Amino acid sequence: MNNDNLRFQVRQLSLDNDDLMLNETLFHNANGYLGVRSNFEEGYPDGYLSIRGQYINGFYDFAEMKQAEKLYGLVEEKQTMLNVADTQGIKLYINGEEFSMFDGEVVESSRTLDMGRGWSMREVLWRSPEKHEVRITVKRMASFHLLPLFTIEYEVESVNFDGELRLVSTHIGNVQNYFNPNDPRVAGETFQYILPVSAEFVGETSLLVSNTSKSGLQVASAVRHECSKAGQESRFIEDGTAIYEWKTELAPGEKATLVKYTVLSDSIRSASCRDEALKLMERVSAIGLNRLYEEQEKYLTEYWENCAVNIYGDDELSMAVYFNLYQLIQSVGKDAYSNIAAKGLSGEGYEGHYFWDTEMYMMPFFSLTNPEIAKSLIRYRHNILDQARDHARLMGHARGALYPWRTIMGKECSGYFPSGSAQYHINGDIAYAIITYYLLTKDTELMLECGAEILFETARLWLDAGHEHKGKFHIHNVTGPDEYTCLVNNNYYTNVLAQYHLQWASKFYHLLQEQDSGAFSKVIGKIGLTEAEIAAFREAAERMYLPYDEELDINPQDDSFLSKKKWDIAGTPKDKFPLLLHYHPLYLYRHQVCKQPDTVLAHFILEDAQKLSTIRNSFNYYEKITTHDSSLSTCIFSIMASKLGLHDKAYEYFGESSKLDLFNTHKNTKDGIHAANLGGTYMAIVYGFGGLRVKEQGLFIAPALPDLWEGYDFKIRFEDSLIQIVVRRGAFEVLLLKGTTKEIHIYGEKHTLKDRLQVELK
Ligand code: BGC
Repeated sequence: MNNDNLRFQVRQLSLDNDDLMLNETLFHNANGYLGVRSNFEEGYPDGYLSIRGQYINGFYDFAEMKQAEKLYGLVEEKQTMLNVADTQGIKLYINGEEFSMFDGEVVESSRTLDMGRGWSMREVLWRSPEKHEVRITVKRMASFHLLPLFTIEYEVESVNFDGELRLVSTHIGNVQNYFNPNDPRVAGETFQYILPVSAEFVGETSLLVSNTSKSGLQVASAVRHECSKAGQESRFIEDGTAIYEWKTELAPGEKATLVKYTVLSDSIRSASCRDEALKLMERVSAIGLNRLYEEQEKYLTEYWENCAVNIYGDDELSMAVYFNLYQLIQSVGKDAYSNIAAKGLSGEGYEGHYFWDTEMYMMPFFSLTNPEIAKSLIRYRHNILDQARDHARLMGHARGALYPWRTIMGKECSGYFPSGSAQYHINGDIAYAIITYYLLTKDTELMLECGAEILFETARLWLDAGHEHKGKFHIHNVTGPDEYTCLVNNNYYTNVLAQYHLQWASKFYHLLQEQDSGAFSKVIGKIGLTEAEIAAFREAAERMYLPYDEELDINPQDDSFLSKKKWDIAGTPKDKFPLLLHYHPLYLYRHQVCKQPDTVLAHFILEDAQKLSTIRNSFNYYEKITTHDSSLSTCIFSIMASKLGLHDKAYEYFGESSKLDLFNTHKNTKDGIHAANLGGTYMAIVYGFGGLRVKEQGLFIAPALPDLWEGYDFKIRFEDSLIQIVVRRGAFEVLLLKGTTKEIHIYGEKHTLKDRLQVELK
């Protein structure tokens, strides 16, 4: 592992507004519980836009979502992730001159994200209008050791300044969320979701408590300061804002440091969040900043030890991959109340909602490298199973559960059902992820605790959503992953996934019964599952209709897809992309045009359902009509290009996926990272170049090496083992780092992995 690639740095910061907002995202600090955008502590001058935010994963308010027509069952209330407080504020004055990046002269400036140590840093050498020079170094951390904790270490070193240094630090409870009425991917209007209840100092700690406007939740934020040298400190509350001021003297060459600790606590996780925040702050004080930095590094050393993917001979790509994997551990919820929002905790795009993105794009990474986290993601889905049952009833189904397309606390949040609730495949996605987790871990205990119940309840839904027609099982009026084609009959992706889901529901019925009949009967007793239903699952799976076009030897995306007019992608002006921002949905639906892989994705996850020629022809067919307007697209095309031996193409798609956020290629990283794509980059290496597949028959690998690389390596967990794959030009090695002997299929042939295998590269 090359530690240099764990430091991402931007030098000489641009003060262009777009770059500022982009950096707020790229350098944000998060730990799966809280996330803080990397705003300048001192703020920007008037007229600059900023998304200044501090979020808690899974903490939300309800917001009205007006529907023009009052049709039955349309969602009229959504959840939205809240900006909970602003504890970032610190203003610096030297002899009364206020520090600003927009005033005086910024002689040097940089931002660094240290992914090995787990902090971000801004360094500025500033010359004030009066020609006083100070070096300002601000280090920020969202602690992995204590999830409710965020720290700012603000250091001022005098170069030639002699005089009074004053730091004014604010703790604000009266905050709002960002909105943009012109972009459907962020909230369209503003509202006062957070209602301040109290603001006080308890000893040296400021403590603010706020209620949400409708969801009945409460949040507390506590802030405490530590200053490095004697001076004058004052603390007071002004208009609900807690203010801390520190005045001291500074001489040339001297340093003064202020440490600002923030602790957040919420009523979802704690009975009294005010008391909890105070208690946690006491704990933080006892630990101290240096120990917290040590713990942070320890956590990340272990993290990288388990999951790092190294690319030899391409440092830029290597860093992009580390960046992406770092964002995943920053984003993932680590308790049953939270999941992974589409933008992680880096911004308000998609309002903090969880989608199928988790199960199909990010969970593979966790199941392969960190099964404990994958387990927690499954528990989250179990936690909202009752709401999924209610949702199924609302959608007209008497039995089973239907997961919401987008949600925080379990209720559906998609206002536009054709590309929202109609995406029934989410049930199959969740089932697929649970099955893969099981195949990797053989964790029967988790299946009995919650996995099986989810799997059975969601499988039930297919029986009611579909029906028999001329001896085949059809599923009508659903939307597949591609959101440019909505409400169709027999979407191939949905049907083939439902088939797999139903087959596995039946397999688990027998498997779990054999493993632990006592615990199993409790599960089926709870949901009243019968042998007759299992037989119906099997029958529906056997009869599942999978669209196939003999002439083209492809799987049509759905029944009507091939009869539509083809969209002329090459002839569409560049400024008309993404199409969703320029064309009415209905117009898009009338064309053969895909926002993202649909059938191609199905061919990746269930490759044994079709012959290779169909997979190849389908790839060629859909590639020509896919715009990749969704960030969930290029990674899958990369994986499938690898499978089909189209190595240059695989590499090109991989490059697009891996650099999407770091190089802001979709031009909207300011709203937050694209979390699914980050997981997709990982998959493009491990499943794509590495050729990994996880099946009932075991592990399969078929490595290939892109021409421009010298090699790469990755590690995966399989049952009790830790396996490393090291690919170099000419040959690759499979190393059993921990655990017992394993069977592994390499290029289709079975091998026994005792401690090390060396195989020629194809
Ligand atoms: C994609 C969806 C995805 C959502 C959130 C949309 O643009 O089409 O597949 O779930 O973004 O990332």
